[in-house]
Amino acid sequence: MTQPGYDALAARYAAMFPGPYQSPIEHHAVAAFVDDIRAAGVVIDVGCGIGHVTDDLTRRGLDVIGCDPSPAMLAIARRTYPHLRFVEDDAALTRVHGPVAAIIARFSLIHIPPDLLPGILRLWARRLTSGAPVLIATQSSDMPGPATSFDHAVAPAWRWHPDELSRVLTEGGFGEQWRMVSRPDDVHRFPQVHLLARRNGG
Ligand SMILES: C[S@@+](CC[C@H](N)C(=O)[O-])C[C@H]1O[C@@H](n2cnc3c(N)ncnc32)[C@H](O)[C@@H]1O
Repeated sequence: MTQPGYDALAARYAAMFPGPYQSPIEHHAVAAFVDDIRAAGVVIDVGCGIGHVTDDLTRRGLDVIGCDPSPAMLAIARRTYPHLRFVEDDAALTRVHGPVAAIIARFSLIHIPPDLLPGILRLWARRLTSGAPVLIATQSSDMPGPATSFDHAVAPAWRWHPDELSRVLTEGGFGEQWRMVSRPDDVHRFPQVHLLARRNGG
């Protein structure tokens, strides 16, 4: 999957988002994800963009690989953090080999058509060991039911009701552990959900 919108707007994106988090809840959700990781190993930052969350996770002591399908976003990540590992790949993770200890996907799965997300999650479940955490953050909705498209500035995007996201994760082999939902504010048009799920055992 290519991302021409992010390629065209990468420099503007970097100027608009100079830091990794836009709110305390984002910061604390990622901190809770880090504390939830039980096994050593590689953590994948899916849709890492310009790499600032990859950098934050590395500073917190994790062994992280950032993946993104946009060469222009990755070029900024590599220039800013030349000591970190970045791979041009999408959420299917076909170019990152080996076992994976945990996965974080902040505001990247929103760009995957909802009918494709279950297949992506099943691929992840095959790569993760029992109990491994995944943290997914998306723009959210108060309307129960299927994900709905919205007018994202860069690329086609869908926002997820937390229950629907949880349901799709359950189908994919994960069990929800917790969710944080923040309300719209001056800078966020929609609620946002951070949902942590663990790979089921067996
Ligand atoms: C809003 S940015 C979020 C960047 C970063 N995760 C963060 O939290 O700052 C969305 C990113 O998702 C990436 N993306 C888009 N489609 C994707 C896909 N199918 N798989 C993985 N990443 C994707 C985009 O290239 C972009 O860098």
